[in-house]
Amino acid sequence: MKIKKIFLAGAISAATFAAAQFRQTPLPYAYNALEGSVDAQTMEIHYTKHAAAYVANLNKAIAGTPLEKESLEKILSHISKESPAVRNNAGGHYNHELFWTVLTPEKNTQPSPGLAKAINDSFGSLDALKEKLSKAGADRFGSGWAWLVVTADKKLAVTSTANQDNPLMDIAEVKGTPIFGIDVWEHAYYLKYQNKRADYLAALWNVTNWKEISRRYGETIK
Ligand SMILES: [Fe+2]
Repeated sequence: MKIKKIFLAGAISAATFAAAQFRQTPLPYAYNALEGSVDAQTMEIHYTKHAAAYVANLNKAIAGTPLEKESLEKILSHISKESPAVRNNAGGHYNHELFWTVLTPEKNTQPSPGLAKAINDSFGSLDALKEKLSKAGADRFGSGWAWLVVTADKKLAVTSTANQDNPLMDIAEVKGTPIFGIDVWEHAYYLKYQNKRADYLAALWNVTNWKEISRRYGETIK
């Protein structure tokens, strides 16, 4: 009986510990699946080293704090009150988890009719939106992200953030729910493109997952 009690206490504490940890979701395709746009070595290092470090450091930064019980989105919403370690790593984890899903080896995915209409209404055309997003990525000085977001009034907007910040953070200039994000850190492209960030940005349109972006748009405007 005594043994059983000890076992149960251990099981509960292990479960509680596990629930408080953020984790990477498995990459939804092989490291080489986006070859031509993103090379396998970059993808592997990006996922297994850079992104893995953000989540490990996030878990370390929130260990033993009330943040362990919060969702990632909730933490981002009051990030101005948190340490640089939480800001950088919570952002880094959120941003990369989104990034993997908005890329795909599937060819010629298209925006849903609803998203296509919203894109036309806001930007004039899909090509105009692509140009605006690529420019946001190219103009970001240093490291950061370019975003397509749905704002609080359900409109689409293009924005850019520095480092691992994102539009869900209370410190963001343009706030909204990201439905597409482009990583413009050098670690995302330097092995294949070196200093040619514009070439990387252009190539990403061949592997953009408009199905997933449309799904996120639908969820956000509900
Ligand atoms: Fe990255």
